Amino acid sequence: MSDDAQQALRRAAALLAQARNILVLTGAGISAESGIPTFREAQTGLWAQYSPEDLATPEAFARHPERVWAWYRWRRALIARGGVNAGHRAIAALGGLTRVFVATQNVDGLHAAAGSLDIAELHGNIWRDRCSRCDTTVAHEILEPATEDIAVCRECGAMMRPDVVWFGEMLPIDALRAAESALDRADAVLVVGTSSRVYPAAALADAAIESARPVIEINPQPTGLSDTVDIRLADSASRALPALVAALDGVLTSG
Ligand code: OAD
Repeated sequence: MSDDAQQALRRAAALLAQARNILVLTGAGISAESGIPTFREAQTGLWAQYSPEDLATPEAFARHPERVWAWYRWRRALIARGGVNAGHRAIAALGGLTRVFVATQNVDGLHAAAGSLDIAELHGNIWRDRCSRCDTTVAHEILEPATEDIAVCRECGAMMRPDVVWFGEMLPIDALRAAESALDRADAVLVVGTSSRVYPAAALADAAIESARPVIEINPQPTGLSDTVDIRLADSASRALPALVAALDGVLTSG
């Protein structure tokens, strides 16, 4: 690690050591090292290969539910295969050192799988099915056998859909409110693996900066947020987060 990177890590740990409540905002980048593609990266991002209009809108589901379900089943399989990585585990470990709330745009459920306790899933959860008519939900703990059949709601008989937020849809209000109150309480914010381009989730980071809360960004690439954050750790989540948590542990045990 370069001297600059080491210094940034030390400053970030010192800053977190002062914080009683930390809000962690995460995006697809934290799961990238589990082998789960991000959305907007050139070449590898899902939206470079697939069209959101065909796969991630209520209209697409109404037109071609089988195609939409096939894509979500494929993504479930990638997530099941990838599992949690050192970045998810480090955030769970951070929760053992101080009070942490995780607001994630990811639908993969990997923060909970790694052991984080307080989580708002702003874009839903791919492991839940929700009735397209009456909103009854059914959770799947494990990958189901591959099938072309589309499950129907046991309450009303309409088609089930993945319980994720599609383009043009509202975010789950409880999750958004929980994330906003965690931001109100937070005295430091960690933004990990998100391009910070999708609203309203990205508004949480904007609000943190506007309210002069210290913000640390972890992302190997610069984002629209990078120039305005207090500390930028330009590294992958699975390297930077364990290093940051170890450094914080060092500060807390020595102080
Ligand atoms: P993006 O694909 O927009 O951004 C992923 C970010 O992760 C980029 O800034 C990458 O540089 C960064 N990144 C890549 N590898 C990383 C690594 N190993 N460690 C840390 N960072 C890494 O994904 P999101 O910002 O999550 O919404 O996208 C937000 C929303 O857009 C998604 O939730 C999804 C999508 O449309 C819905 O489906 C509703």
